[in-house]
Amino acid sequence: MTMVIDDVVGRETRHVLQTYRRQAVTCVRGQGVRLWDAEGREYFDLLSGIGVAALGHSHRGLARAIAEQGETLIHTSNLFYHPLQGQLAERLANLSGLPRAFFCNSGTEAVEACLKFARRYWFTKGEPRAEIIALEESFHGRTFGSLSVTSDEHYRKPFEPLLQNVKFVPVNEPAALAAAVSRSTAAIIAEPVQGEGGIRPLTPAFAAAINEACAKSGALFIADEVQSGLGRTGYPFYFAALGLKPHLVAVGKALGGGVPIGAALVSQEVADAISYGDHGSTYGGNLLACRAALCVLDELVGGGLLAHIGRVGQTFEKRLKAIAAKHPIVKEVRGRGLMWGLELKRDAAPIVPAGLERGVVVNRTAETVVRLLPPLVITEPEADEALSRLDAALGAVGAGA
Ligand SMILES: Cc1ncc(COP(=O)(O)O)c(C=O)c1O
Repeated sequence: MTMVIDDVVGRETRHVLQTYRRQAVTCVRGQGVRLWDAEGREYFDLLSGIGVAALGHSHRGLARAIAEQGETLIHTSNLFYHPLQGQLAERLANLSGLPRAFFCNSGTEAVEACLKFARRYWFTKGEPRAEIIALEESFHGRTFGSLSVTSDEHYRKPFEPLLQNVKFVPVNEPAALAAAVSRSTAAIIAEPVQGEGGIRPLTPAFAAAINEACAKSGALFIADEVQSGLGRTGYPFYFAALGLKPHLVAVGKALGGGVPIGAALVSQEVADAISYGDHGSTYGGNLLACRAALCVLDELVGGGLLAHIGRVGQTFEKRLKAIAAKHPIVKEVRGRGLMWGLELKRDAAPIVPAGLERGVVVNRTAETVVRLLPPLVITEPEADEALSRLDAALGAVGAGA
């Protein structure tokens, strides 16, 4: 079986552009929270493909919906109506309170759309504003607009010049935000829980400062809920838990349960500034993606998943705090619901292979943080077993193994 892995790696090395430094695991099958590699080894997946496989792997309802849609109609383009896009937009409106959706195919496109709609809003008002206020430690995606509001120098530097008129302010410092926002600010953009930046929830005081700055200056607020949205924190969207009032919301990742789809959700005020032809996408909101997303939302809203996340999220919090107390290398535990980060006193990279050796998939972000984004359907016994494996991996790395 090693042959299969060698072949996969060899072919990729020759022909796939080398932008990803992959772990030495070839995933071939999944079921619920479990993954299997080409050698038949089983892993508990505490990452769900970076917060995407919300219903777990090979979810029966989702698999059936996708198969059925594949046999009916996959794609028509946005030149025509189809029955599912409006249904999905309506469901997202009910969940978010923002009445209109624009569909695209990824998180970065959802952010791009929000940035363009914010610019368009001010253009339509006859008062063009270009400035965007973003946060330090932010991550919004890799395309030029999203990268321009992403703070990490490592991602930005090789691609400069990026969008001008972007100012970064420190996270959770209300006074710095208040000082940065003015009547030239088109929009403030923030992740309600910073994901790639190390699982850092915004504080209620900072959320209040965002609301106040918007009210004073007229600036729009863009909530990037690509990672934190759709139940991940135990709330449909974490902006609501913080009392934030976004004019635009970017969603992606979990929305299609693995089928690529993203959306920009907008207030009526912003929608009124948009005209035919202002933005578009060939694939955005096609039947296959909408069908998958409707299935995910069925589970989330009708299937009792939100209440489940609340319960199992408490188990995560308790267990992670107990693990942190036991391992001196853990500095802090941060998160909500099923979105957790363990900040270590050292580089977290060795935890990933140590976890894989023990049959658990976790991820490192922001250098020192072990990130957990398990499938939202994970049960308490599964969480228990997976976290015991993480506990063992932390023990091995902490002991210098
Ligand atoms: C908060 C946030 N916004 C945007 C993105 C970009 O999403 P995608 O990789 O689907 O383009 C990510 C991806 O990690 C994210 O976490």
